[in-house]
Amino acid sequence: MIEPIKIEEINTIVNMHYDAFKGLLTSDLGKDYITYLFTNIINSEYGICYGYKIDSKIVGFVCGTSDFKKIWDIKFKVKLAKFAITAVINNPSIIHKIVKYLWVHYQVGKIGINAHILSIVVLNNYRKKGIGLELVKNFSTFIRNKNLKSYLVNTDANTQASKFYFKTGFKLVKTIKFFNKKDNWFRYDL
Ligand SMILES: CC(C)(COP(=O)(O)OP(=O)(O)OC[C@H]1O[C@@H](n2cnc3c(N)ncnc32)[C@H](O)[C@@H]1OP(=O)(O)O)[C@@H](O)C(=O)NCCC(=O)NCCS
Repeated sequence: MIEPIKIEEINTIVNMHYDAFKGLLTSDLGKDYITYLFTNIINSEYGICYGYKIDSKIVGFVCGTSDFKKIWDIKFKVKLAKFAITAVINNPSIIHKIVKYLWVHYQVGKIGINAHILSIVVLNNYRKKGIGLELVKNFSTFIRNKNLKSYLVNTDANTQASKFYFKTGFKLVKTIKFFNKKDNWFRYDL
């Protein structure tokens, strides 16, 4: 069963995101940041998180926005900067990830599509059963109901996730390079 994530369920998806994306910037910024991000999404008319539940247990979720600029407002950016400064003080080596993030988002801005999937995770034991596809379908309906025609999602070009996006109907629109890292950006057309 798929239904919107409630605020009291947020810790579950924060932990799922953190575990799935260890080593990526959002996880380096810490669970408090991920909680802040998902809370903003859930509380905004421009955002949604859907959970896929089996026997009341969340085994997969997708979070995204129809317009990230409405969520990444000035208040959000100030808070994000504070999380980033704290994370850099604790671990200066993540500074290159912050620079990469800024570079990638500058490049992505040129595509001109503000609707994005920000995170999609299915627990290990439940993968390859069609749950990811069902979550994508629900997110597509959310975007369609906003009268939008397409949305984006990105992933590290070296991970298997690109295969998932090709299989579920996304088109590769841009590969953004930053030193030896490549980020694949996919578009889903409704
Ligand atoms: C990516 C992810 C969400 C896919 O979820 P899932 O429930 O396993 O996906 P589905 O079962 O709906 O798969 C849909 C299609 O993609 C294919 N697919 C899914 N994962 C794949 C993989 N790792 N490699 C190759 N193909 C894959 C499936 O085989 C299926 O194709 P088919 O219909 O021809 O059989 C899941 O693997 C995951 O949580 N990964 C870790 C987090 C992550 O990388 N998220 C995406 C980056 S933001």
